[in-house]
Amino acid sequence: MAVPFLDLRAQYLSLRGDIDAAIQGIVDRTAFIGGEAIQQFEREFAAFCGAQACAGVGNGTDALQLVLEAMGIGPGDEVITVPNTFMATAEAITRSGATLRLCDVRPDTHLMDPEALARAITPKTKAVIPVHLFGQTCDMDAITAIARAHGLRIIEDAAQAHGAELRGRRPGTLGDAACFSFYPGKNLGAYGDAGAVVSNDAGLTSAVRCLANHGRASHTEHARIGTNSRLDGIQAAVLRAKLPHLNGWNQARRAAAKRYDPLLAEIGATPVTEAPGCTSVYHLYVVEVDDREGLMAHLRARDIGCGLHYRTPVHLTEAYRGLGLRPGAFPVAERLQSRIISLPIFPEITEAQQAEVVEAVAEFVGAPARG
Ligand SMILES: Cc1ncc(COP(=O)(O)O)c(C=O)c1O
Repeated sequence: MAVPFLDLRAQYLSLRGDIDAAIQGIVDRTAFIGGEAIQQFEREFAAFCGAQACAGVGNGTDALQLVLEAMGIGPGDEVITVPNTFMATAEAITRSGATLRLCDVRPDTHLMDPEALARAITPKTKAVIPVHLFGQTCDMDAITAIARAHGLRIIEDAAQAHGAELRGRRPGTLGDAACFSFYPGKNLGAYGDAGAVVSNDAGLTSAVRCLANHGRASHTEHARIGTNSRLDGIQAAVLRAKLPHLNGWNQARRAAAKRYDPLLAEIGATPVTEAPGCTSVYHLYVVEVDDREGLMAHLRARDIGCGLHYRTPVHLTEAYRGLGLRPGAFPVAERLQSRIISLPIFPEITEAQQAEVVEAVAEFVGAPARG
């Protein structure tokens, strides 16, 4: 049986009437740019996060860059994040004009190591961007204590963690602001590019909204030099139609992950540890294995989808060669990134599909599958 890495069509079919009506409503009103669907979504998504305010923007990368700019962070400042993230986190820092600094991660959760963060801080450091990678929140208690002691702003990269919880609190409330991506494959995905900044600071989200709309103070007045990175009407309508289902989808992802965990651990594939107090929403289901390249080839030959998130740590990419960092600079992240593979997970995945995945992994490692 073929198992897709993710099945966006299954989700669309389960909501087809609502999605089609939402899109048709925008077309009927020609509310393509601006309009009430955007404000409604911003209110509803802020409430989902348990936060005061939300500003919709064009994508998750711009969310990061715009919030840095709205905080007044730029040339001469340093911003710290991790090497094992999607390039966008680093790009946003660099494009803001600030200097990118990196710190290593923990081997069990794959998330920012607070002690490494503390070591990376210099007098120029202005902000830290912990990345809630794969769907689990970082150790925000330790990160917040360090950041507050050094007067740093905290920007959560929550592109993979819509609705994750740290003892009941969600991204958007765990730092000064959280940046979300609604790229179609995310836990809450639009039908194109979209993103948002969520915060308890409504002044900050207003500044982001202003920057994302050409720095407009009113339709004809431009108070700042901004850009064009608006959440559009069709994306807002699709996101509104999907949002009521997000908690259920996240629970389905968790249930699937909890089915995988023991079966894969038993055959020598090490899942990412869910830290105490954390409720991961398993945007990705990642395991560590000895021969990652071999396993990928084996799964593909059996028509089982898999992914790499991500193959190359930021500091070893061609793009960031200018940092002058060599292999060995961040040993934990580098080791993890050479060993990880992402297995199929999505809310609609069936037990039979998961059994097929486990059996294929077992076949490759030469272990009997219990599945
Ligand atoms: C961790 C992380 N940060 C930032 C982004 C950027 O989001 P977008 O693709 O919407 O620009 C993504 C999404 O791909 C991501 O996974």
